[in-house]
Amino acid sequence: MSIPPGKILACVNGVIGPAEHATVSVLDRGHVFGDGIYEVVRVDKGRLHGMDRHWRRLDRSLRALQMPAVDLNLLRSQVEATLAASGHTDATIYLQVTRGTAPRAHAFPADTPANTLILVQHFPDDKAHLREKGAGVITHPDLRWARCDIKSINLLGSVLAAEAAKRAGCVEAVLIREDGVVTECAHSSLFAVVDGVLRTHPLDPRILPGITREIVLELAADLGIPCRQKALRSDELRGVDELFLTSTTSRVLPLVELDGKPVGNGKPGPVTCSLRDAFTAWEKADALKTPSSNALNAGEL
Ligand code: PDD
Repeated sequence: MSIPPGKILACVNGVIGPAEHATVSVLDRGHVFGDGIYEVVRVDKGRLHGMDRHWRRLDRSLRALQMPAVDLNLLRSQVEATLAASGHTDATIYLQVTRGTAPRAHAFPADTPANTLILVQHFPDDKAHLREKGAGVITHPDLRWARCDIKSINLLGSVLAAEAAKRAGCVEAVLIREDGVVTECAHSSLFAVVDGVLRTHPLDPRILPGITREIVLELAADLGIPCRQKALRSDELRGVDELFLTSTTSRVLPLVELDGKPVGNGKPGPVTCSLRDAFTAWEKADALKTPSSNALNAGEL
């Protein structure tokens, strides 16, 4: 099976088929309570980037929410089979696990297996020009819950912020808590450069432990860029020299405008550019280490 670029291929509890015909029960707890977790993985020329890190984070989210046991090896083979069946080489994989299907009651249902969903979608890299010239962001209140370190499918705080950014013609929203702490973006991690020092919020329940963030911090250490994992306050944000975001889909994206005003001199800064380029080099090296999934056969399921 190979699907046209505009089509999405789904795998629901191990069954592969076109997303438009795939169904889940209305009693799925993800649907009723948002009781589930997810990952987004990027596929580049048939290779899944940072997959081991994504699996570790998925496992952590499952444990943090005491989700039913999931056979991660089986899920992994289903991911590879769905990707192979899609025929896509440049894609995103959305992977979701919910607490299964049960009559609606808040507390966990007994003896209910998890429901799994895999979506494979063609993903053209449409941000390459923005990684060169930079993009704009707005600030927005951080309306999310107290466990942003878990990659839960409850995303209303992020959805509202992302919509506000879109309406402002910006790529993202920088989230600011009521106490003035700058956390991250609606669907990306946030970095700043202040007096030559790389700054980002420390890992705690207020932010997602971003995989691109983790790699960028490793690259910064390799490059000898001093780094401080200490949250910025909203008043400091206005005066930073450089700003950039990181995510699986955007990679390292310079931010040159904040609420309509230039960041630094309004151009991608030198530290940002060196990390952006180091990340591109890291991806190339990672691709050489990762086998392409194209050879896999959907019949393996
Ligand atoms: N977003 N912070 C938040 C709140 C996120 O939702 C994401 C990812 C990130 C970046 O994490 P990573 O580098 O692991 O992609 C940070 C995904 C892509 C999404 O929700 O679509």
